[in-house]
Amino acid sequence: MSSNTRPRGLDGVVAAQTRLSHVDGQAGELIIGGYQLRELAGHVTFEEAAHLLWRGALPSKDELATLRKEIAGLRPLPEEALHVVRAAAQAPPIDALRMACATLSLDLAQPDEISPGADMQAAKMLTARFPTVVAAHARLSAGQAPIAPRTDLPLAANFLYMMHGKEPDPIAARAIDSYWVTVIDHGMNASTFTARVIASTRSDLVSAVTGAIGALKGPLHGGAPGPVLDMLKDIRSADRAEGWVRNELAAGRRIMGFGHRVYKVRDPRAEVLSKVADQLSSAALENRKLFDLARAAEQTIVKVLDEVKPGRNLRTNVEFFTALVLQALGLEPRSFVATFACGRVAGWCAHVIEQHAEDHLIRPQSEYVGPRGLKVD
Ligand code: ACO
Repeated sequence: MSSNTRPRGLDGVVAAQTRLSHVDGQAGELIIGGYQLRELAGHVTFEEAAHLLWRGALPSKDELATLRKEIAGLRPLPEEALHVVRAAAQAPPIDALRMACATLSLDLAQPDEISPGADMQAAKMLTARFPTVVAAHARLSAGQAPIAPRTDLPLAANFLYMMHGKEPDPIAARAIDSYWVTVIDHGMNASTFTARVIASTRSDLVSAVTGAIGALKGPLHGGAPGPVLDMLKDIRSADRAEGWVRNELAAGRRIMGFGHRVYKVRDPRAEVLSKVADQLSSAALENRKLFDLARAAEQTIVKVLDEVKPGRNLRTNVEFFTALVLQALGLEPRSFVATFACGRVAGWCAHVIEQHAEDHLIRPQSEYVGPRGLKVD
């Protein structure tokens, strides 16, 4: 293949077969474990969606009760992890999560084992503890003491409890649960690919997930929802949106929350999360105003992007409404990416389990474009 025909950034290259999720960028569809996203989001809990990915089917009532109990029991952090979270109190939350995640293998009986049973145990442990890490870090960075997890609440409701110190109302608890179901898995995105590359070397699940967090951190992947709120603050009112977006594009800047490598229509996750944000924002006038501004700005931005970047089909992506959902839940923008990771971790783990079963090293090649034949004087 010549360098002219080689896809940049592996665009369009199939890197693995998976039964976990499928992204159809032209139809704007996301299939998770056989279900359309709209079938799952708002209809199953995060624990049920995790079971679907890890076991290949939604759980029976008994299976769900068992999984819930296991995950609830794994929520408290070992002292070593809490120590790292404290030391990283002033670091960005996603960095603190990466550091804490790496310590969690200390708590596994056989951290290097990659059998299906060992992987499943590590998957439950990471999925149980990510929200505890993110909530503890948010409180420590604000000078507050971390709140110990409760075992009687679902994972999502317990996350808000640990963040805010009080049991969330049912709409808020449902919102974060739907958010995590919505972002649980998404084909061969950069962080999932990273996890699979690491797992393909027969490295362990905790190492693979730690690497995935590093890939998620970048603004081109998971780092956009914070900047989306900044953008809306800057735009201030719907009538200023057009001038604002034209200015940004003229300055060569990207509009956060728009565009996607695969979707050439509106991201189906944006559709689901726009409804969640709509429901949540009914409770507070401030949030309602922000939601109305976002909907109006969205239309203007898409229109201007079509005009200035014709043929690129730049549409709203998941991050745009993620920003509205998470801020309506009282989370700080700096915690947004780490909160995304609390949902995506279940998908990363499922991919690692799948990759370990595949047991084939992922090892692409590069095209050397440097000089040759140099001599040392
Ligand atoms: N605003 C303005 N222009 C854009 C945007 C945007 N958000 N996205 C793409 N473009 C333009 C590029 O400037 C480029 O224009 P050109 O060909 O005239 O130079 C063209 O569209 C194609 O851009 P690529 O970088 O090749 O597109 P790619 O598929 O690699 O980008 C990405 C996808 C990274 C998400 C991009 O759309 C972007 O930067 N968006 C803003 C950041 C963002 O929202 N990130 C979250 C993504 S969702 C997720 O990962 C969970």
